Amino acid sequence: MRLIHSVAEMALARSEVERPLGLVPTMGALHEGHLSLVRRARSENASVVVTIFVNPTQFGPSEDLAAYPRDPDRDLALLEAEGADVVFMPPPKEVYPAGYDTWVSVERTSEPLEGASRPGHFLGVATVVCKLFNMVRPDRAYFGQKDAQQLQVIRRLNSDLNFDVKINAMPTVREPDGLAMSSRNAYLSPDQRRAAPVVYAALQAAQELYADGARQASAVREAMQRVLASEPLAQPEYVSIADPGTLAELELIDGPALASLAVRIGTTRLIDNVVLGTDERSLP
Ligand code: PAJ
Repeated sequence: MRLIHSVAEMALARSEVERPLGLVPTMGALHEGHLSLVRRARSENASVVVTIFVNPTQFGPSEDLAAYPRDPDRDLALLEAEGADVVFMPPPKEVYPAGYDTWVSVERTSEPLEGASRPGHFLGVATVVCKLFNMVRPDRAYFGQKDAQQLQVIRRLNSDLNFDVKINAMPTVREPDGLAMSSRNAYLSPDQRRAAPVVYAALQAAQELYADGARQASAVREAMQRVLASEPLAQPEYVSIADPGTLAELELIDGPALASLAVRIGTTRLIDNVVLGTDERSLP
């Protein structure tokens, strides 16, 4: 496994490795969710590049950039065991050198949900993903359904800017109690960790109501809110039933619908989602 820190060395490596080349972008502090992407990339490509970069531009001024968990030695050992060929771990100055001045704005897709709660977040995500696509020039790239809006933003920029990368989505990997794996789960105190499965419980309530035939989005949102209200440590930020493509809020569920939510538990912000009316395993 080759460890690369500079953009220049990455440019050399991408011309040397065998194709097809699969890319897995991450911010490190790797867990089974990340590793599921690496395994899929490994099974489909001659070469696998994993990037580890805690992208400062996607964090708001009052967010957790400084506290974001970092454990490069552990990450490298895990990636070596998964058979990654290249790990690209650039320092911030390689990605955003002095004078950096270009931003990629995916407009409407970035507006609701996470975009409304975290102004500027998707500007940072879209910009860094474009840069990673250009630095690595992958044939395929792998992302998690856990960050459903991020996935839509990336599909949009890939198509709008003609990157022609094949984007693959992988289902959300969960802890046994349903909590979606996230590097941020490490922030939770034991009490908060015990409360955190309420996030997935709210999504399960949506799935149950949908399975029972409910098609009014407001009824499904209310059921999710009721589950969240049962947990005193959970402060809901938004609860949404939206079109999975446009992310516009639905009145009537008459096709696949993205049920998503953001919840604060203490200072930790957790997000999760399920798609109603489709089998997640069959997502492209
Ligand atoms: P990060 O949060 O490290 O996630 C990297 C990838 O792992 C993303 O595609 C994310 O959706 C996926 N992932 C995270 N948790 C998952 C889970 N429980 N199950 C399945 N997949 C999961 O997302 C980012 O980093 C950044 O925004 C990035 C795309 C790297 C740009 O900086």
